[in-house]
Amino acid sequence: MLVVETIDKLHAFLAEARAAGKSVGLVPTMGALHEGHASLVKRSVKENGVTVVSVFVNPTQFNDKGDLERYPRTLEADCQLLEALGTDCVFAPTVEEVYPEPDTRVFDFDPLDKVMEGVYRPGHFNGVAQIVSKLFMYVEPDRAYFGEKDFQQLAIIREMVRQMDFKLEIVGCPIVREADGLALSSRNALLTPEQRVTALAISKALFTSVDYAKEHSLEETKQMVEQAIADTEGLELEYYEVVNGDTLQPVAAWDDADYIVGCITVYCGKVRLIDNIRYK
Ligand code: PAF
Repeated sequence: MLVVETIDKLHAFLAEARAAGKSVGLVPTMGALHEGHASLVKRSVKENGVTVVSVFVNPTQFNDKGDLERYPRTLEADCQLLEALGTDCVFAPTVEEVYPEPDTRVFDFDPLDKVMEGVYRPGHFNGVAQIVSKLFMYVEPDRAYFGEKDFQQLAIIREMVRQMDFKLEIVGCPIVREADGLALSSRNALLTPEQRVTALAISKALFTSVDYAKEHSLEETKQMVEQAIADTEGLELEYYEVVNGDTLQPVAAWDDADYIVGCITVYCGKVRLIDNIRYK
């Protein structure tokens, strides 16, 4: 497995792969890899001639400086896992390599970026679009893999691909959970053992709500989830939105859309956790 820091070296690797007629899969990550990332890499390795995994904690998508500083960085362990998974190339650039000058591009994904994370993390999706579009331009992958845990991010990346006319397939992969239900996240590494137990109330509330929804209105179901979080000491709800899975706009009743997803963000201490569940 090759580990490169520069775009030139990445291009040299890709030129050889392309010359050999190999398709290219890209898995963009910010490192601190876990089984959720591993599922994306495994799928890419299966579906492409070569797999490139980028490991880059992208500063432009952090609207909270403390969050950026706290973000776990574990490149050595990440590379060990990636090698074992059959990754061909890890692209782990410095901030200067990616942003030799400030990226002033402003994206507009209205209305997808005007709700949920777009409200609570202003500028976040602009930063995601900046880095992901750069990665697509560097790598020109045939396929790129993203987790459904970041449900809004996935919708926005699909929209960015449409707007910018990138010629690649976006592959969304299901959330990977611990056996007890906790959605895998790099941020879980920041939880104390007690907080990790507390955080289980999030997935539990979501799972319970699926059955509850069969007998209750959307508003009642939403309230049930909100109450379950409020009743758990150590958790603070930022938002719980039940949205149309295509437009991400809130829906008022179960009959209002064919594809409905509940998206939640909760603080467990200082650690911001997100999760989602599909109702229909
Ligand atoms: O989902 C992530 O880890 C990041 O937002 C991404 C897509 C790698 C861009 O930095």
